[in-house]
Amino acid sequence: MKIAVFKETRNAETRVAVTPDTIKKLAGAGHEIRVEAGAGLAADFPDEAFREAGASIAETAQQAAAGVDAVFCVRLPEGGSLAAIPDNAALIGLVAPHDNGEEIRQLAARGVEVFACEFTPRITRAQSMDALSSQANLAGYRAVLEAAHAYGRAFPMMMTAAGTIAPARVFVMGAGVAGLQAIATAKRLGAQVSATDVRPAAKEQVASLGGKFVAVEDEEFKEAETAGGYAKEMSDEYKAKQAKLVAEHITKQDVVITTALIPGRPAPRLIDAEMVASMKPGSVLVDLAVERGGNIEGAELDRIAQKDGKSIIGYANLPGRLPADASSLYAKNLLAFLPLVTAEDGAYAPDWDDEIVSGMVLTKGGEAVHDAVKG
Ligand code: NAI
Repeated sequence: MKIAVFKETRNAETRVAVTPDTIKKLAGAGHEIRVEAGAGLAADFPDEAFREAGASIAETAQQAAAGVDAVFCVRLPEGGSLAAIPDNAALIGLVAPHDNGEEIRQLAARGVEVFACEFTPRITRAQSMDALSSQANLAGYRAVLEAAHAYGRAFPMMMTAAGTIAPARVFVMGAGVAGLQAIATAKRLGAQVSATDVRPAAKEQVASLGGKFVAVEDEEFKEAETAGGYAKEMSDEYKAKQAKLVAEHITKQDVVITTALIPGRPAPRLIDAEMVASMKPGSVLVDLAVERGGNIEGAELDRIAQKDGKSIIGYANLPGRLPADASSLYAKNLLAFLPLVTAEDGAYAPDWDDEIVSGMVLTKGGEAVHDAVKG
């Protein structure tokens, strides 16, 4: 298969969809990789490293894409790069189906088969391909570092000759992949950690990391997990009970990290302005859901908003702030997925009966086939 990788442009993306390591493996499997010049620079992979690994470097996206069977991307390409994708090629990446329906339908009309890494099924066999997990894990780690950096006090308890510093109290809302890594990272830094989630399975996971679990554990909570492992949208009644509990808990917290998401829906609003106001001056909040509407009132995209002495960090794309590691893991996710759309002779030939392939495909045979992108 001939595979192209463009320099990412959307949302100032720093990650790249291949690394020298995956290029070696792809080339070893007989694939030909063409990378647009400069595609790996922001992730510390110079063109030379790609070339040495076996890729060829093209000056433009158009040259990289000419005649390829597949394009690997992090974000959906835009502008000239989007237009450069050859008709009937495959496109594999974190294409944000819920946000980019129109562009994806246009790709469908050109016969492009688009696979969304967001829809990798949460099954054991797909774990190595699961880009949401590989990236969320890094986001959770980075969120804690961002909070620690903005916080005017230390995280661990310190007993010094000049006095004792109390440990920071960190509250993590949403204990999925990102939240669990945030808990583990905050614990490693010596903070006192508590966490909440609407899925009962999270309770044990939080405890196993040494966090205290705080949640409204009613009948609705017991059934809040879908068969796919995700959270359901909770009732207004549950949300009110949750808000009350959170309001009481939050006044005693120094740092709050929110990661709550519901696939295909706006992020649930968990913290309102009043709750922010009830926190101590110097407190720091980090909203990982800011790109999907935000969990925290007052969070601003890609900024640290200051509200009465409290900082609300709204950085989008936290994995993009660790571009080398994020690219390495993401590129491995794509490498692991590729065999499912490749015939034995190396040609592009998706196995449509495979539940991973059928779960991820958005467009096929000239049409949008996934509900997320049907017009
Ligand atoms: P996510 O990114 O969709 O959401 C993050 C967290 O927010 C979830 O834990 C969710 O329950 C929580 N949440 C949603 N609404 C909330 C609310 N109102 N209040 C508090 N928390 C709320 O989830 P993520 O991180 O992608 O993981 C979802 C599940 O999938 C987890 O159970 C995870 O362990 C599981 N998983 C399974 C895999 C596999 O078996 N291959 C791979 C990766 C994850």
